[in-house]
Amino acid sequence: MNPRALTGPVRFWMRVRRGLSSVRPRLVLGIETSCDETGAAVLDENGVILGESLHSQKQTHLDAGGIIPTVAQRLHRENISRVVQEALNRSSIEPCELTAVATTVKPGLALSLGIGLDFSLKFVRLHEKPFIPIHHMEAHALTVRMLQPVDFPFLVLLVSGGHSLLALAKGIDEFLLLGQTLDEAPGDTLDKIARRLSLRNHPECSTVSGGQAIELLAKEGNRHAFYFRSPMGQQYDCNFSFAGLRNQVTMAINQKEKEEGVEAGQLLSCVKDIAAASQHTVASHIAKRTHRAILFCKARGLLPQHNPTLVVSGGVASNEYIRQTVKIITDSTGLQLLCPPSKLCTDNGVMIAWNGIERLKHGKGILSHTEDVRYEPKAPLGLDMTTEVKEAAIKYPPLKLNIVL
Ligand code: KG4
Ligand code: ZN
Repeated sequence: MNPRALTGPVRFWMRVRRGLSSVRPRLVLGIETSCDETGAAVLDENGVILGESLHSQKQTHLDAGGIIPTVAQRLHRENISRVVQEALNRSSIEPCELTAVATTVKPGLALSLGIGLDFSLKFVRLHEKPFIPIHHMEAHALTVRMLQPVDFPFLVLLVSGGHSLLALAKGIDEFLLLGQTLDEAPGDTLDKIARRLSLRNHPECSTVSGGQAIELLAKEGNRHAFYFRSPMGQQYDCNFSFAGLRNQVTMAINQKEKEEGVEAGQLLSCVKDIAAASQHTVASHIAKRTHRAILFCKARGLLPQHNPTLVVSGGVASNEYIRQTVKIITDSTGLQLLCPPSKLCTDNGVMIAWNGIERLKHGKGILSHTEDVRYEPKAPLGLDMTTEVKEAAIKYPPLKLNIVL
């Protein structure tokens, strides 16, 4: 049942019942401020969302043409108290009823992380609650377990505006890093291509992120009208690279602008085709690296025989074309593909609270309210296996990545 649908009297009785019950469910407040979303949520130990709130800075950054860290910091500072209070109010939970507070402390923008951490430390000290520092990428990886039972180990593909990585999740705080981006993340690339194409001036795209704009326009584009080379074809590892693709796309745009006599800010006649070809190349690069990661894990016996699973998350995972391309790989290798719903793929307080619940259940990484905690803008995920993956130089059989949506 959606707790937000509960009426006042029902909520009252839930609280009375909680008070009377001898075994009170553990409750965690999660706080997220690592990039451009100020998020908070209260979850119980079963993963029921009792209340949540999210303030998105996306429109401000869209208007500015990218994230300016000082602006992100100011907006987090202006909104964090309200967002946390809203999550508490919606859940009808008082701070004294919380079991712990979990907050993203790494990785992310230093100025953004600082606001969430500062607020959280003051909060836990005031209310004398345990504090659980959270790794943002671990939280993305584990969100799926809130929605359905998924046993360790499982493979994770995280693709967002700030990240691109493949990892094996072996436990709630045990990851093997198989591949990561060598330059930029796919969401960042799509955002930059969208800006270069002035998609904000397209009537259907003025309020959506660059990645969403590309997906929207690509639906009506012909991807074969442009050919962009898939990156890193000669490197048999699971790392990603998107900067070279962005160069190829920029060169094609420059060429077309000359041909059509289009000035800065105007839309090319072929924007939909460029969007379709760019999206396809991003999707096939992600799918090919994922294919190799699956074969590597199988060769090393790292995935279970029964129900081996790939979890895909992060903002870019909400792209249906990319999901379908990855599905061709999981279907051909016998893996189950799980993607949390879009709302939980992007940054939010729920995933942080859930990571707090997982840590609480396992008694891992729970600090007293008096301990000092620092944020870490850079924080790799797990044990770095990228060299072993490269040395294995696994080749995959050719697969046709033809998607019809
Ligand atoms: O996970 P997220 O909300 O924030 C972080 O980057 O951590 O992801 C945002 C990124 C943006 O780059 C946005 O353009 C991209 O995800 N994105 C998409 C789609 N929706 C959001 N990319 C491709 N297709 C989409 N539908
Ligand atoms: Zn994220």
